[in-house]
Amino acid sequence: MTPEWSPRCTTDPTPRERPAAQAALDSATERVELTPGTFLMPGLVDLHIHAPQWPQLGTGLDLPLERWLFDYTFPLEARYADTEFAAAVWDDLVPSLLAMGTTTAVYFSSNHLEATTALARACARHGQRALVGRVAMDHPDGTPEWYRDATASAGVEASKASIEAVKAVGSRRVEPIITPRFAPACTDALLEGLGELAAATGVRVQTHCAESDWHCDYALDRFGVSDSTALNRFGLVRPHTVLAHSDHLTADEMAIVAGQGAGVAHCPLSNAYFANAVFGVRKALAAGVGVGLGSDIAGGARPGLLGGCQDAVTVSRMLEDGVDPALGAPQRGVPESRIDTVAALWLATAGGAAVADLPVGLIESGRCFDAMAVRTDRPGGAIRLWDGIDDEARAFEKVVRLATTDDISHVWVDGKSVKQ
Ligand code: GUN
Ligand code: FE
Repeated sequence: MTPEWSPRCTTDPTPRERPAAQAALDSATERVELTPGTFLMPGLVDLHIHAPQWPQLGTGLDLPLERWLFDYTFPLEARYADTEFAAAVWDDLVPSLLAMGTTTAVYFSSNHLEATTALARACARHGQRALVGRVAMDHPDGTPEWYRDATASAGVEASKASIEAVKAVGSRRVEPIITPRFAPACTDALLEGLGELAAATGVRVQTHCAESDWHCDYALDRFGVSDSTALNRFGLVRPHTVLAHSDHLTADEMAIVAGQGAGVAHCPLSNAYFANAVFGVRKALAAGVGVGLGSDIAGGARPGLLGGCQDAVTVSRMLEDGVDPALGAPQRGVPESRIDTVAALWLATAGGAAVADLPVGLIESGRCFDAMAVRTDRPGGAIRLWDGIDDEARAFEKVVRLATTDDISHVWVDGKSVKQ
């Protein structure tokens, strides 16, 4: 069965486009011949990633979200007041992600203007396509006093300044994004001010939405409505707003998110630790909600999005079947929840590109050439293809499930080679 939301096929250039394609080839300064055992694929779009949490990757997942933030994450993020430290982390993070095929990253930076500008510069220098957001957060209960905007208006002003600073970096591949951390960390005045800033500037928005039981209960208690409804009332659920997680959205809320043209960054591994639920990808897509994949570093301890595809497939199977053997099979799961590797890679490429409104995610004319080459024949590599056994579909599955960073031989952003 072909699901309705299966990927669009790429097409050969039309006869009208063919001469232009040939001319581009003839004038290319670099020609790369791919061996027959190499897959050319769209680059990966990481729709949700916390750049300053890179040094924390792989640790600290023993606490629930609300304590993880205060005990581990805010102290680390506060260190980015030191711009030299920030620049050193960015110079490790960005090329590491590019090597894994992450050609686009939608970043939460820290609360600091300088560090955020340095992140935008690092993306431009290393050649990564990125949306870069300075995190706004000012709530006296939801943030520590040593890591917050002093007032709501200071938070709005700093966000405005960060938009200008990221634009001033001068790369057409690196753009700003307005980034209220999430409702518990922001006062009403800050949420409202950032909603107004988004309306006035047209700059995209990202935030965390309906991530965990605690997050949802908090929103209901404070606003008297659900988290997504409150964010929408503050003007933050807009076309191409990236709502991270959102695994607790009801059908009614999904309809509102879809109606506003916003989308979800699905973060399957992180959800296993913090979310108390599995996001229903197929329900969301059926409701018209755009969906892409996010690593959610460091709530998600796996940086590469091919691994994220595997996680998305795996958790969808667990959602479909359920997990408690004490329940009978008919009561255990949510029917028709599973996705396959084709759908998962679609989320990690074209799906994420559509949510963020970026002209990438498919290799076809009219889109930027953000791509990667994966070798299936590398001596010592992770992938084995067997003559007479592995057809193209099986080879594709093996690439998505098994390819390691070392098997990714080339990565391009905007046609430029970016993997050292
Ligand atoms: N909610 C607010 N901040 C964060 C964060 O840094 N990570 C995750 N996963 N959820 C959050
Ligand atoms: Fe997150």
